[in-house]
Amino acid sequence: MWETDNKFLNGPFTPWHEETDAFDLEVIGKIPEDLDGALFRTGSNPKFKPRNTDRYHWFEGDGMVYATYLRDGKAAYRNKWVMTDALKVEMEAGEAIYSGFVNGGTAPSLPAGAPPMKNVPNTNVGVLADRLLVFFEGGLPHQMNPQSLETYGTYDFNGDVPFTCTAHYKLDPDTGNMLFYSYMGNNITWYEADRHGKVLDTFAFSTSAPSMFHDFAVSKNYAIFFVTPGLFLAPNIGQGKPGLVWDPAATNNGVEIVTMHRTTHEVRTYRVDETFFPTHFFNAYERGNEIVIEAPRIKERFGTPADRITRPVDSHEWFMNAIPWRWTVNTDTGRVTNQATSHIAGEFPAINPNKVGLEHKFGYFATTRGRDADTMSDGLAKTDLTKETVTVIEGLDDLTNPSEPIFVPRTGAVNEDDGYLLSIWWNRQTELSELCIYDTAEFGRTPLARVKLPGRVPFGFHGSWSDREQIEDSLRVLASEHAN
Ligand SMILES: [Fe+2]
Repeated sequence: MWETDNKFLNGPFTPWHEETDAFDLEVIGKIPEDLDGALFRTGSNPKFKPRNTDRYHWFEGDGMVYATYLRDGKAAYRNKWVMTDALKVEMEAGEAIYSGFVNGGTAPSLPAGAPPMKNVPNTNVGVLADRLLVFFEGGLPHQMNPQSLETYGTYDFNGDVPFTCTAHYKLDPDTGNMLFYSYMGNNITWYEADRHGKVLDTFAFSTSAPSMFHDFAVSKNYAIFFVTPGLFLAPNIGQGKPGLVWDPAATNNGVEIVTMHRTTHEVRTYRVDETFFPTHFFNAYERGNEIVIEAPRIKERFGTPADRITRPVDSHEWFMNAIPWRWTVNTDTGRVTNQATSHIAGEFPAINPNKVGLEHKFGYFATTRGRDADTMSDGLAKTDLTKETVTVIEGLDDLTNPSEPIFVPRTGAVNEDDGYLLSIWWNRQTELSELCIYDTAEFGRTPLARVKLPGRVPFGFHGSWSDREQIEDSLRVLASEHAN
Protein backbone atom coordinates (compact mmCIF):
# COMPACT_ATOMS: atom_id res chain seq x y z
CA MET A 1 0.00 0.00 0.00
CA TRP A 2 2.87 2.33 0.90
CA GLU A 3 6.40 1.57 -0.30
CA THR A 4 7.96 0.07 2.81
CA ASP A 5 9.46 -3.14 4.16
CA ASN A 6 7.74 -2.62 7.53
CA LYS A 7 6.08 -5.93 8.40
CA PHE A 8 3.21 -4.13 10.15
CA LEU A 9 2.13 -2.44 6.89
CA ASN A 10 2.23 -5.46 4.58
CA GLY A 11 0.68 -8.91 4.11
CA PRO A 12 -2.10 -9.63 6.62
CA PHE A 13 -1.42 -6.27 8.30
CA THR A 14 -2.08 -4.22 5.12
CA PRO A 15 -4.54 -1.44 5.97
CA TRP A 16 -8.12 -1.58 4.67
CA HIS A 17 -9.82 1.78 4.10
CA GLU A 18 -13.26 0.98 2.73
CA GLU A 19 -16.27 1.09 5.05
CA THR A 20 -18.63 -1.70 4.06
CA ASP A 21 -22.18 -2.96 4.65
CA ALA A 22 -22.88 -6.46 3.39
CA PHE A 23 -25.66 -8.98 3.90
CA ASP A 24 -26.20 -12.68 3.35
CA LEU A 25 -22.50 -13.45 3.05
CA GLU A 26 -21.23 -16.55 1.30
CA VAL A 27 -20.82 -19.39 3.82
CA ILE A 28 -19.10 -22.73 3.32
CA GLY A 29 -20.59 -25.16 5.83
CA LYS A 30 -23.27 -24.22 8.33
CA ILE A 31 -23.34 -21.45 10.94
CA PRO A 32 -24.71 -22.93 14.21
CA GLU A 33 -28.22 -21.60 14.87
CA ASP A 34 -27.43 -20.84 18.51
CA LEU A 35 -24.82 -18.29 17.47
CA ASP A 36 -27.23 -15.36 17.55
CA GLY A 37 -25.39 -12.08 18.00
CA ALA A 38 -22.21 -10.45 16.75
CA LEU A 39 -18.46 -10.88 16.75
CA PHE A 40 -16.85 -7.47 17.21
CA ARG A 41 -13.17 -7.02 16.38
CA THR A 42 -10.93 -3.97 16.37
CA GLY A 43 -7.41 -3.57 15.08
CA SER A 44 -4.72 -1.27 13.89
CA ASN A 45 -5.44 0.35 10.55
CA PRO A 46 -3.55 3.56 9.74
CA LYS A 47 -5.66 5.88 7.59
CA PHE A 48 -2.70 7.97 6.48
CA LYS A 49 0.85 7.02 5.61
CA PRO A 50 2.79 7.09 8.90
CA ARG A 51 5.22 10.01 9.27
CA ASN A 52 8.02 7.52 9.68
CA THR A 53 7.19 4.23 7.96
CA ASP A 54 10.35 2.50 9.25
CA ARG A 55 9.48 3.18 12.86
CA TYR A 56 5.72 2.68 12.54
CA HIS A 57 4.53 -0.02 14.96
CA TRP A 58 1.50 -2.31 14.95
CA PHE A 59 0.21 -0.75 18.20
CA GLU A 60 -0.21 2.70 16.62
CA GLY A 61 -2.70 2.44 13.77
CA ASP A 62 -6.15 4.04 13.81
CA GLY A 63 -9.01 1.97 15.16
CA MET A 64 -11.56 0.38 12.86
CA VAL A 65 -14.35 -1.85 14.14
CA TYR A 66 -15.35 -4.94 12.15
CA ALA A 67 -18.70 -6.49 13.11
CA THR A 68 -19.92 -9.84 11.82
CA TYR A 69 -23.59 -10.34 12.74
CA LEU A 70 -24.88 -13.94 12.86
CA ARG A 71 -28.55 -14.91 13.01
CA ASP A 72 -30.63 -17.86 11.77
CA GLY A 73 -27.53 -19.36 10.19
CA LYS A 74 -26.88 -16.24 8.08
CA ALA A 75 -24.12 -13.62 8.31
CA ALA A 76 -23.97 -9.86 7.73
CA TYR A 77 -20.98 -7.53 8.06
CA ARG A 78 -20.24 -3.88 8.75
CA ASN A 79 -16.94 -2.09 9.35
CA LYS A 80 -16.34 1.54 10.29
CA TRP A 81 -13.58 3.82 11.52
CA VAL A 82 -13.76 4.84 15.14
CA MET A 83 -14.06 8.60 14.67
CA THR A 84 -11.71 10.01 17.28
CA ASP A 85 -10.88 13.71 17.66
CA ALA A 86 -7.28 13.03 16.61
CA LEU A 87 -8.35 11.17 13.47
CA LYS A 88 -10.64 14.09 12.58
CA VAL A 89 -7.64 16.45 12.87
CA GLU A 90 -5.66 14.24 10.48
CA MET A 91 -8.59 13.97 8.08
CA GLU A 92 -8.84 17.76 8.06
CA ALA A 93 -5.10 17.97 7.30
CA GLY A 94 -5.22 15.11 4.78
CA GLU A 95 -2.13 13.48 6.28
CA ALA A 96 -0.68 11.92 9.43
CA ILE A 97 0.02 14.58 12.05
CA TYR A 98 0.80 12.41 15.07
CA SER A 99 3.95 10.35 15.55
CA GLY A 100 4.30 6.90 17.02
CA PHE A 101 4.72 6.11 20.71
CA VAL A 102 6.37 2.69 20.49
CA ASN A 103 9.60 3.28 18.58
CA GLY A 104 9.74 7.10 18.65
CA GLY A 105 10.86 8.95 15.56
CA THR A 106 9.68 12.21 14.05
CA ALA A 107 8.76 14.60 16.86
CA PRO A 108 5.09 15.57 16.75
CA SER A 109 3.96 18.88 15.33
CA LEU A 110 0.36 19.54 16.23
CA PRO A 111 -2.02 22.24 14.98
CA ALA A 112 -3.69 24.48 17.58
CA GLY A 113 -6.57 22.76 19.35
CA ALA A 114 -5.47 19.23 18.42
CA PRO A 115 -5.52 16.60 21.20
CA PRO A 116 -1.96 16.37 22.63
CA MET A 117 -1.85 12.61 22.12
CA LYS A 118 -3.59 10.32 19.69
CA ASN A 119 -6.14 7.93 21.15
CA VAL A 120 -6.10 4.88 18.86
CA PRO A 121 -9.05 2.62 19.77
CA ASN A 122 -7.46 -0.37 18.10
CA THR A 123 -7.02 -2.75 21.03
CA ASN A 124 -10.29 -4.31 22.21
CA VAL A 125 -14.02 -3.93 21.74
CA GLY A 126 -17.10 -5.23 23.50
CA VAL A 127 -20.70 -4.45 24.46
CA LEU A 128 -20.28 -3.13 28.01
CA ALA A 129 -21.94 -0.41 30.08
CA ASP A 130 -24.88 -0.39 27.64
CA ARG A 131 -22.79 0.56 24.59
CA LEU A 132 -20.11 -0.77 22.28
CA LEU A 133 -16.84 0.32 23.89
CA VAL A 134 -13.64 0.42 21.86
CA PHE A 135 -10.49 0.52 23.94
CA PHE A 136 -6.97 1.99 23.87
CA GLU A 137 -5.03 1.84 27.13
CA GLY A 138 -3.48 5.29 26.65
CA GLY A 139 -6.86 7.04 26.82
CA LEU A 140 -10.56 6.56 27.50
CA PRO A 141 -12.61 4.06 25.50
CA HIS A 142 -14.73 5.35 22.62
CA GLN A 143 -18.41 4.51 22.55
CA MET A 144 -20.20 3.33 19.45
CA ASN A 145 -23.62 2.10 18.44
CA PRO A 146 -23.28 -1.70 18.13
CA GLN A 147 -25.55 -1.75 15.09
CA SER A 148 -24.77 1.39 13.06
CA LEU A 149 -21.18 1.64 14.38
CA GLU A 150 -21.65 5.39 14.76
CA THR A 151 -19.07 6.89 17.18
CA TYR A 152 -20.39 8.93 20.14
CA GLY A 153 -17.10 10.25 21.59
CA THR A 154 -15.26 8.88 24.62
CA TYR A 155 -16.83 7.24 27.68
CA ASP A 156 -15.71 7.96 31.27
CA PHE A 157 -18.06 5.79 33.37
CA ASN A 158 -20.13 8.78 34.54
CA GLY A 159 -16.95 10.71 35.36
CA ASP A 160 -15.47 8.02 37.62
CA VAL A 161 -12.70 6.97 35.19
CA PRO A 162 -11.09 10.25 34.20
CA PHE A 163 -7.99 9.61 32.08
CA THR A 164 -7.11 6.13 30.87
CA CYS A 165 -8.61 2.66 30.90
CA THR A 166 -7.10 -0.72 30.18
CA ALA A 167 -8.27 -2.53 27.04
CA HIS A 168 -8.15 -5.81 29.00
CA TYR A 169 -11.23 -5.76 31.21
CA LYS A 170 -12.50 -9.06 32.65
CA LEU A 171 -16.11 -9.98 33.32
CA ASP A 172 -16.89 -11.62 36.67
CA PRO A 173 -18.86 -14.73 35.69
CA ASP A 174 -20.91 -14.56 38.93
CA THR A 175 -22.05 -10.95 38.78
CA GLY A 176 -21.42 -9.89 35.18
CA ASN A 177 -19.48 -6.95 36.66
CA MET A 178 -16.64 -5.41 34.67
CA LEU A 179 -13.24 -5.65 36.42
CA PHE A 180 -10.62 -3.27 35.07
CA TYR A 181 -7.98 -0.64 35.88
CA SER A 182 -6.12 2.35 34.59
CA TYR A 183 -2.40 2.97 34.86
CA MET A 184 -0.09 5.94 34.48
CA GLY A 185 3.60 5.60 35.32
CA ASN A 186 3.91 3.66 38.60
CA ASN A 187 0.27 4.11 39.55
CA ILE A 188 -2.54 1.61 39.06
CA THR A 189 -6.18 2.35 39.84
CA TRP A 190 -8.48 -0.64 40.10
CA TYR A 191 -12.20 -0.45 39.22
CA GLU A 192 -15.22 -2.69 39.40
CA ALA A 193 -18.35 -1.52 37.56
CA ASP A 194 -21.78 -3.04 37.11
CA ARG A 195 -23.29 -3.93 33.72
CA HIS A 196 -24.53 -0.38 33.27
CA GLY A 197 -21.15 1.25 33.86
CA LYS A 198 -21.78 2.34 37.48
CA VAL A 199 -18.44 2.16 39.33
CA LEU A 200 -18.92 0.09 42.50
CA ASP A 201 -15.35 -0.08 43.79
CA THR A 202 -12.05 1.68 43.15
CA PHE A 203 -8.62 1.58 44.77
CA ALA A 204 -5.33 3.24 43.81
CA PHE A 205 -1.86 1.88 44.60
CA SER A 206 1.72 2.24 43.39
CA THR A 207 4.17 -0.24 41.93
CA SER A 208 7.97 -0.30 42.02
CA ALA A 209 8.43 0.40 38.28
CA PRO A 210 6.47 2.04 35.45
CA SER A 211 5.85 -1.20 33.56
CA MET A 212 3.50 -1.49 30.63
CA PHE A 213 0.52 -3.01 32.45
CA HIS A 214 -1.15 -4.08 29.24
CA ASP A 215 -3.14 -6.96 30.72
CA PHE A 216 -3.86 -8.41 34.17
CA ALA A 217 -5.46 -11.50 35.64
CA VAL A 218 -8.21 -11.94 38.20
CA SER A 219 -8.96 -14.83 40.49
CA LYS A 220 -11.96 -15.03 42.81
CA ASN A 221 -10.29 -12.83 45.44
CA TYR A 222 -7.39 -11.09 43.71
CA ALA A 223 -6.49 -8.73 40.89
CA ILE A 224 -2.97 -9.66 39.71
CA PHE A 225 -0.39 -7.47 37.97
CA PHE A 226 3.14 -8.30 36.78
CA VAL A 227 5.79 -5.60 37.24
CA THR A 228 8.23 -6.41 34.45
CA PRO A 229 11.22 -4.74 32.73
CA GLY A 230 8.88 -3.96 29.80
CA LEU A 231 8.42 -0.28 30.66
CA PHE A 232 6.04 2.30 29.27
CA LEU A 233 7.95 5.59 29.49
CA ALA A 234 5.46 8.29 28.49
CA PRO A 235 7.96 11.19 28.87
CA ASN A 236 10.09 9.66 26.08
CA ILE A 237 7.35 10.08 23.50
CA GLY A 238 7.34 13.88 23.33
CA GLN A 239 11.12 13.71 22.77
CA GLY A 240 10.80 11.36 19.80
CA LYS A 241 12.34 8.46 21.76
CA PRO A 242 10.83 4.96 22.05
CA GLY A 243 8.06 4.78 24.67
CA LEU A 244 8.27 1.00 25.13
CA VAL A 245 11.66 0.21 26.65
CA TRP A 246 13.14 -3.06 27.95
CA ASP A 247 15.19 -2.28 31.06
CA PRO A 248 15.92 -5.18 33.46
CA ALA A 249 17.80 -2.78 35.79
CA ALA A 250 14.50 -1.02 36.54
CA THR A 251 13.17 -4.18 38.23
CA ASN A 252 16.51 -5.42 39.68
CA ASN A 253 16.66 -8.21 37.11
CA GLY A 254 13.41 -9.75 38.26
CA VAL A 255 9.64 -9.58 38.00
CA GLU A 256 7.19 -8.77 40.77
CA ILE A 257 3.81 -10.43 40.94
CA VAL A 258 1.54 -7.95 42.70
CA THR A 259 -1.80 -9.10 44.09
CA MET A 260 -4.55 -6.76 45.24
CA HIS A 261 -7.31 -8.35 47.33
CA ARG A 262 -10.60 -7.52 45.66
CA THR A 263 -12.42 -7.00 49.00
CA THR A 264 -9.82 -5.75 51.50
CA HIS A 265 -7.58 -4.03 48.89
CA GLU A 266 -4.51 -5.46 50.64
CA VAL A 267 -1.58 -5.33 48.21
CA ARG A 268 1.13 -8.01 48.37
CA THR A 269 4.23 -8.51 46.25
CA TYR A 270 5.93 -11.78 45.28
CA ARG A 271 9.30 -11.72 43.57
CA VAL A 272 10.53 -13.91 40.71
CA ASP A 273 14.31 -13.79 40.18
CA GLU A 274 14.34 -13.77 36.40
CA THR A 275 13.09 -11.40 33.74
CA PHE A 276 10.35 -12.04 31.21
CA PHE A 277 7.20 -10.42 29.83
CA PRO A 278 3.72 -11.97 29.97
CA THR A 279 1.96 -10.92 26.77
CA HIS A 280 -1.66 -11.63 27.79
CA PHE A 281 -3.17 -13.77 30.52
CA PHE A 282 -5.17 -16.93 30.06
CA ASN A 283 -6.56 -16.79 33.59
CA ALA A 284 -5.80 -17.05 37.32
CA TYR A 285 -7.40 -19.10 40.07
CA GLU A 286 -6.93 -20.06 43.72
CA ARG A 287 -6.25 -23.50 45.15
CA GLY A 288 -5.91 -23.55 48.95
CA ASN A 289 -3.02 -21.24 49.80
CA GLU A 290 -1.91 -21.01 46.17
CA ILE A 291 -2.66 -18.59 43.37
CA VAL A 292 -2.12 -20.09 39.91
CA ILE A 293 -1.58 -17.70 36.98
CA GLU A 294 -1.20 -18.62 33.31
CA ALA A 295 0.06 -16.50 30.41
CA PRO A 296 2.24 -16.83 27.32
CA ARG A 297 5.70 -15.65 28.38
CA ILE A 298 8.38 -13.90 26.31
CA LYS A 299 11.76 -14.64 27.86
CA GLU A 300 14.05 -12.29 25.93
CA ARG A 301 12.64 -8.75 25.73
CA PHE A 302 9.62 -6.60 24.98
CA GLY A 303 10.42 -3.14 23.60
CA THR A 304 13.62 -1.35 22.65
CA PRO A 305 16.50 -2.35 24.96
CA ALA A 306 17.45 0.58 27.20
CA ASP A 307 21.10 0.32 26.14
CA ARG A 308 20.29 0.97 22.46
CA ILE A 309 17.54 3.53 22.74
CA THR A 310 18.43 5.29 19.48
CA ARG A 311 18.13 2.07 17.46
CA PRO A 312 14.60 0.67 17.94
CA VAL A 313 14.01 -2.96 17.10
CA ASP A 314 13.01 -3.65 13.48
CA SER A 315 9.39 -4.68 12.79
CA HIS A 316 10.48 -8.17 11.69
CA GLU A 317 12.33 -8.76 14.99
CA TRP A 318 10.09 -6.83 17.37
CA PHE A 319 8.12 -9.74 18.81
CA MET A 320 10.01 -12.68 20.27
CA ASN A 321 8.14 -15.96 20.64
CA ALA A 322 5.98 -16.45 23.71
CA ILE A 323 5.55 -19.85 25.38
CA PRO A 324 2.41 -20.66 27.41
CA TRP A 325 3.50 -20.60 31.06
CA ARG A 326 2.20 -21.12 34.60
CA TRP A 327 3.28 -19.43 37.86
CA THR A 328 2.14 -20.82 41.21
CA VAL A 329 2.35 -18.40 44.14
CA ASN A 330 2.31 -19.83 47.66
CA THR A 331 0.66 -17.06 49.68
CA ASP A 332 2.00 -18.47 52.99
CA THR A 333 5.68 -18.79 52.08
CA GLY A 334 5.82 -16.18 49.29
CA ARG A 335 7.54 -18.71 47.07
CA VAL A 336 6.78 -18.71 43.34
CA THR A 337 7.30 -21.77 41.15
CA ASN A 338 6.82 -21.83 37.41
CA GLN A 339 6.72 -24.11 34.40
CA ALA A 340 5.67 -24.22 30.74
CA THR A 341 2.17 -25.51 30.00
CA SER A 342 2.97 -26.21 26.35
CA HIS A 343 6.07 -26.02 24.19
CA ILE A 344 4.26 -24.51 21.24
CA ALA A 345 4.84 -20.78 20.83
CA GLY A 346 1.68 -18.77 20.79
CA GLU A 347 -0.17 -15.61 21.67
CA PHE A 348 -3.72 -14.32 22.17
CA PRO A 349 -4.82 -16.78 24.86
CA ALA A 350 -8.49 -17.49 25.48
CA ILE A 351 -10.62 -19.58 27.83
CA ASN A 352 -14.31 -20.26 28.35
CA PRO A 353 -15.57 -16.91 29.78
CA ASN A 354 -17.51 -18.78 32.48
CA LYS A 355 -14.15 -19.86 33.95
CA VAL A 356 -12.68 -16.38 34.54
CA GLY A 357 -11.08 -16.49 38.01
CA LEU A 358 -11.85 -20.21 38.41
CA GLU A 359 -9.75 -23.28 37.64
CA HIS A 360 -9.90 -23.90 33.88
CA LYS A 361 -9.10 -27.14 32.10
CA PHE A 362 -8.80 -25.84 28.56
CA GLY A 363 -6.88 -22.97 26.95
CA TYR A 364 -6.89 -21.76 23.36
CA PHE A 365 -4.38 -19.56 21.51
CA ALA A 366 -3.04 -18.57 18.11
CA THR A 367 0.25 -20.36 17.38
CA THR A 368 3.29 -18.28 16.35
CA ARG A 369 5.70 -20.94 15.17
CA GLY A 370 7.20 -18.51 12.64
CA ARG A 371 6.76 -20.47 9.46
CA ASP A 372 6.25 -17.48 7.13
CA ALA A 373 8.14 -14.21 7.27
CA ASP A 374 5.12 -12.07 6.41
CA THR A 375 2.66 -13.52 8.94
CA MET A 376 2.48 -13.40 12.71
CA SER A 377 0.33 -16.42 13.53
CA ASP A 378 0.05 -19.75 11.73
CA GLY A 379 -2.53 -21.92 13.48
CA LEU A 380 -4.89 -22.33 16.40
CA ALA A 381 -4.23 -24.48 19.46
CA LYS A 382 -6.40 -26.11 22.09
CA THR A 383 -4.60 -27.17 25.28
CA ASP A 384 -6.10 -29.79 27.57
CA LEU A 385 -4.36 -29.02 30.86
CA THR A 386 -5.54 -32.19 32.61
CA LYS A 387 -4.30 -34.52 29.91
CA GLU A 388 -1.33 -32.23 29.09
CA THR A 389 -2.07 -32.42 25.37
CA VAL A 390 -2.12 -29.72 22.72
CA THR A 391 -4.01 -29.94 19.43
CA VAL A 392 -2.90 -27.55 16.69
CA ILE A 393 -4.88 -26.89 13.52
CA GLU A 394 -3.80 -24.99 10.45
CA GLY A 395 -5.94 -23.12 7.94
CA LEU A 396 -7.65 -24.80 5.03
CA ASP A 397 -6.48 -23.91 1.51
CA ASP A 398 -4.87 -20.45 1.49
CA LEU A 399 -5.99 -19.46 4.99
CA THR A 400 -3.26 -18.38 7.40
CA ASN A 401 -2.53 -15.80 10.10
CA PRO A 402 -5.58 -16.45 12.31
CA SER A 403 -6.67 -13.78 14.77
CA GLU A 404 -7.08 -14.21 18.51
CA PRO A 405 -9.60 -17.05 18.97
CA ILE A 406 -12.78 -16.25 20.89
CA PHE A 407 -14.61 -18.99 22.78
CA VAL A 408 -18.41 -18.87 22.82
CA PRO A 409 -20.11 -21.53 25.00
CA ARG A 410 -22.78 -23.57 23.27
CA THR A 411 -26.34 -22.84 24.51
CA GLY A 412 -27.01 -25.29 27.34
CA ALA A 413 -23.39 -26.49 27.49
CA VAL A 414 -22.33 -28.55 30.50
CA ASN A 415 -18.70 -29.33 29.64
CA GLU A 416 -16.11 -26.57 29.71
CA ASP A 417 -15.01 -27.13 26.11
CA ASP A 418 -18.52 -27.47 24.67
CA GLY A 419 -18.76 -24.42 22.42
CA TYR A 420 -17.38 -22.63 19.41
CA LEU A 421 -14.05 -21.04 18.65
CA LEU A 422 -14.28 -17.99 16.36
CA SER A 423 -11.23 -16.66 14.53
CA ILE A 424 -10.68 -14.45 11.50
CA TRP A 425 -8.10 -15.79 9.05
CA TRP A 426 -6.28 -14.07 6.18
CA ASN A 427 -6.67 -15.66 2.76
CA ARG A 428 -3.27 -15.34 1.15
CA GLN A 429 -4.71 -15.63 -2.35
CA THR A 430 -7.66 -13.22 -2.19
CA GLU A 431 -6.02 -10.99 0.45
CA LEU A 432 -9.45 -10.85 2.12
CA SER A 433 -10.53 -12.28 5.46
CA GLU A 434 -12.74 -15.18 6.49
CA LEU A 435 -14.41 -15.92 9.80
CA CYS A 436 -14.01 -19.59 10.71
CA ILE A 437 -16.23 -21.14 13.36
CA TYR A 438 -14.90 -24.35 14.96
CA ASP A 439 -16.51 -26.93 17.20
CA THR A 440 -14.22 -26.88 20.25
CA ALA A 441 -15.23 -30.27 21.69
CA GLU A 442 -14.45 -31.93 18.33
CA PHE A 443 -11.58 -29.60 17.50
CA GLY A 444 -10.38 -30.22 13.94
CA ARG A 445 -9.06 -28.45 10.87
CA THR A 446 -12.37 -28.20 9.01
CA PRO A 447 -14.54 -25.48 10.54
CA LEU A 448 -18.30 -25.82 10.99
CA ALA A 449 -18.59 -22.66 8.92
CA ARG A 450 -16.30 -20.52 6.85
CA VAL A 451 -17.83 -17.08 6.36
CA LYS A 452 -16.36 -15.08 3.48
CA LEU A 453 -16.03 -11.47 4.58
CA PRO A 454 -16.30 -8.75 1.92
CA GLY A 455 -13.05 -7.09 2.99
CA ARG A 456 -9.83 -7.60 4.86
CA VAL A 457 -9.68 -7.33 8.62
CA PRO A 458 -6.04 -6.23 8.99
CA PHE A 459 -4.38 -8.48 11.57
CA GLY A 460 -5.39 -6.83 14.83
CA PHE A 461 -5.67 -7.42 18.49
CA HIS A 462 -8.83 -8.27 20.38
CA GLY A 463 -12.57 -8.51 20.27
CA SER A 464 -15.54 -10.27 21.78
CA TRP A 465 -18.83 -11.98 21.12
CA SER A 466 -22.14 -10.40 22.17
CA ASP A 467 -25.48 -12.13 22.20
CA ARG A 468 -28.40 -10.46 20.41
CA GLU A 469 -30.12 -9.71 23.72
CA GLN A 470 -27.10 -7.71 24.95
CA ILE A 471 -26.96 -5.76 21.69
CA GLU A 472 -30.69 -5.00 21.79
CA ASP A 473 -30.49 -3.82 25.42
CA SER A 474 -27.67 -1.51 24.44
CA LEU A 475 -29.62 -0.15 21.46
CA ARG A 476 -32.55 0.72 23.75
CA VAL A 477 -30.31 2.66 26.14
CA LEU A 478 -28.50 4.47 23.32
CA ALA A 479 -31.81 5.38 21.65
CA SER A 480 -32.92 7.13 24.84
CA GLU A 481 -29.53 8.85 25.31
CA HIS A 482 -29.47 10.11 21.73
CA ALA A 483 -33.20 10.83 21.33
CA ASN A 484 -32.71 14.56 20.97
FE1 LIG B 1 -3.77 -7.01 24.25
